[in-house]
Amino acid sequence: MEQSRREIVVGTVGDLAPGQTRKFLLPTEGEPTEAFLVNVGGDVHAWVNRCRHVEITMDWVEGRLLDESGCYVVCATHGALYEPDSGECISGPPCGKFLIRVPLRVAGDQLIAAVPAEL
Ligand code: FES
Repeated sequence: MEQSRREIVVGTVGDLAPGQTRKFLLPTEGEPTEAFLVNVGGDVHAWVNRCRHVEITMDWVEGRLLDESGCYVVCATHGALYEPDSGECISGPPCGKFLIRVPLRVAGDQLIAAVPAEL
């Protein structure tokens, strides 16, 4: 299948182990937008790296997005916790809001991310 300009290959199937995250850049207008993959028990999800409290990136160490338990995406600025599979904030200032999901699809052994409609 042909790839649209609003999609990008972000890896291959199985190249991200459970509990790991990896950042990538989405091809958005002007500046690219930072996003990340997270493997939750074998299922890979992708989110825009943007807190729903203040629109800034969430890493507490460059590329480190899960908290010490490995169970939640954590925002370094005020400690919001997000479920890595649903994107819902379950603790912190943006509680009840959701991260912006990056749609993923598989083509052959490639994992392809699409720019979300919100961006
Ligand atoms: S900026 Fe993320 S919790 Fe405040």
